[in-house]
Amino acid sequence: KKPIWLDCDPGHDDALAIILAAYHPSLELIGISTVVGNQTLDRTTQNAYKVAYIAGLPSHIPIIRGCGESLCRHVTTCPEIHGQTGLGGADVPEHPEYKTLTKQQDENYLWNIYQKIISVGRPVTLIATGQLTNVALLLKVFPQIKDSLLEIVLMGGCIGIGNITPGSEFNIMNDPDAAHIVFTSPHVPRLVMVPLELTHTVCVTPEISERLRSLDSPFSSMLNHLLQFFVSTYKQVFQFDSPPLHDPCAIAYVADRDLFEEKVMHVDIERTSEFCQGRTVCDLYDMHRKEKNCVVAMKIKVEEFWNTMLNAIELADKN
Ligand code: BDR
Ligand code: CA
Repeated sequence: KKPIWLDCDPGHDDALAIILAAYHPSLELIGISTVVGNQTLDRTTQNAYKVAYIAGLPSHIPIIRGCGESLCRHVTTCPEIHGQTGLGGADVPEHPEYKTLTKQQDENYLWNIYQKIISVGRPVTLIATGQLTNVALLLKVFPQIKDSLLEIVLMGGCIGIGNITPGSEFNIMNDPDAAHIVFTSPHVPRLVMVPLELTHTVCVTPEISERLRSLDSPFSSMLNHLLQFFVSTYKQVFQFDSPPLHDPCAIAYVADRDLFEEKVMHVDIERTSEFCQGRTVCDLYDMHRKEKNCVVAMKIKVEEFWNTMLNAIELADKN
């Protein structure tokens, strides 16, 4: 099994990413860290615990509360898509030990994440499904983490149109300085970006909702309520009939690369432009002839993805 660390900001699609990370048969989830993003850090952390609880994650998997702000700028949360709680649409029960467990957490979150990763003893894949603040700080403060990393796989960025401004995707736009650190770091053995072009092909269609509903359990019904909320907010904000399930695609990449087509290229992060701040400038045709620093996932086998995702949900349900 491949050891993975998940840095996330739950969030509906992050919630499903946690489930896939914990229950995909070829992955071993060694820990979760949280970051501000879809909601405040308090909410995303509380939500990570909630998801761990309802999905029956073993208690030895740590959940570490990470950074609550961007490196240099103001953070925007996303209640219009994820609701005021970050998991709108269902009354997800509190993790019974949430208060006790988070009370013990101190300000050494970076050190704690670093220690957990290096103690695995095998190269770990770091998956990021939120803004890249924790990841950038880890690389800056503990550059020696390189020896314990296999690769970093992130959901974020776009080749063309964005989803928070016309030119930028939410996770990158919320902390472009952090993204710049990650995309230029010499301490990342391999960097993989799973952009909007790919995630927008993985949609929660009525047929997918029906498959989830047919699992017919309190757990699947709660997930379905969450996803129906996501369906309705995506319809309101983007006029999409079926919303894209972004974050689990990054997990699926690590679990089964055969599902993907990819292309290696140079990617720059635009940090200062008036209209294109937060843009991932993808040199698809190698016009700059710069060193190729990023593997961009271009396509996914959608049907296979959903089989894997629903299988993980079933396993979590039985647990
Ligand atoms: C990304 O932004 C967040 O709202 C989602 O959870 C996902 O990680 C998509 O742009
Ligand atoms: Ca996310």
